[in-house]
Amino acid sequence: MGCDSVGIVGSGIMGSGIAETVIESGYPVILLSRTPESAKAMVNSIKGSFARKIEKRKKSTSQADEDLSRLICTNDIADLANCDLLIETVVEDIDVKMRVMKGLDEACKPSAIIATNTSTFPVIELAAATSRPDKVCGIHFFNPAQVMKLVEIVETLTVSQDTIQAATAFALSCNKEPVVVKDQAGFIVNALLFPYLNNAVKLLERGVASKENIDIAMKGGCGFPMGPFALLDLVGLDTALSILNSLYDEFKDPNFAPAPLLKRMVAAKLHGRKTKAGFYNY
Ligand code: CAA
Repeated sequence: MGCDSVGIVGSGIMGSGIAETVIESGYPVILLSRTPESAKAMVNSIKGSFARKIEKRKKSTSQADEDLSRLICTNDIADLANCDLLIETVVEDIDVKMRVMKGLDEACKPSAIIATNTSTFPVIELAAATSRPDKVCGIHFFNPAQVMKLVEIVETLTVSQDTIQAATAFALSCNKEPVVVKDQAGFIVNALLFPYLNNAVKLLERGVASKENIDIAMKGGCGFPMGPFALLDLVGLDTALSILNSLYDEFKDPNFAPAPLLKRMVAAKLHGRKTKAGFYNY
C-alpha cells in the first residue's frame, strides 16, 4: 500500500494525538468526528501543542501552519472514501467500534486498510465486522501518542502479511517504533503494565503506603517516568478498568481482576485527568 492519505475516526485524546503525529509526518489527514464541536476541540488541542513547540523553538510558525493545512475535519463518512489507511480511535465500546468498522468498510475504497487503535477488544472481532478481514489490523498507539515511540501492530488470524508490512511501514514513516504482536488481550504492553497498575491500587487499598509514596517509590526505585497513580490518571481509570476486564475475561488470572477501589472510582466518575479528578485533582 502506498499511503497518500489517512482517515482518523474519533477526536478524543488518542485521535487527537495520532492526528498530530500523522500530519507532522507529512500525511494529509481527514478527521471524522461526531460533531463539529468535538472536531474544533481537537484542532484547538493540536494548535495548543504546536504553540508549545513554537515557544520551545522546536517548530516554526510556518511549519505549524503547513502541518495544520493538511488536516481536514468532516462529519460525513463518505469523505473518507479515498483514504488509503483508516485508523479508528472511537470510545472503547464494542458495539460502537463494530458500527464504525462496518461503516468504514462500506464507505471506503476496497484497497484501503482499516486499523483499530483498540486496547481492549479482540481485533479479529472488529475485522469480522468488515468484508475485508485481510486488510484489518491493530495499530495501537500509546498515550500521549505525540510523544510515545511505541506502536503495536496487531496481527489477527485473518490479516495478510501485506497489510502488516504496510502498517509497519506507516508507523516507521511516523517516526515510531513498531512491534508486531499477536491478537491477544493486552498485546504486549498492557498485558505487562496493567497487573502492575492494578496491584498498585490493591497496595493502596491495603494501606501499605500513600498513593504519593507509592508513586515516589516507583519513580525513584525503578526509574519509571511516572508512578502508577499518576499513570492511571493519564490513561483514564475507565480505560484501565476496561483493559483489566478484557484481560481477566481472556486469561482468568486473578492479577487481572480489577481492584474494588478502581471499580468504585470509575462508578464515581473519577476517571483521572479527563474528568479533572482521579487519584489526584487536576
Ligand atoms: N501531549 C503532548 N505532548 C506532551 C504531553 C501531552 N499530553 N505530555 C508531555 N508532552 C511532551 C512535552 O511537551 C515534552 O516535549 P519536549 O521534550 O519536546 O519538550 C515531552 O513530552 C516531555 O514532557 P515533560 O518534560 O513535560 O514531562 P516528562 O518528561 O515527565 O514526560 C511523559 C511526560 C512523556 C508523559 C512521561 O511522563 C511518560 O513517558 N510517562 C509515561 C507514559 C506512559 O507510560 N504511557 C503509556 C500509557 S499505557 C497506554 O497508553 C496504552 C493503553 O492502551 C491505555
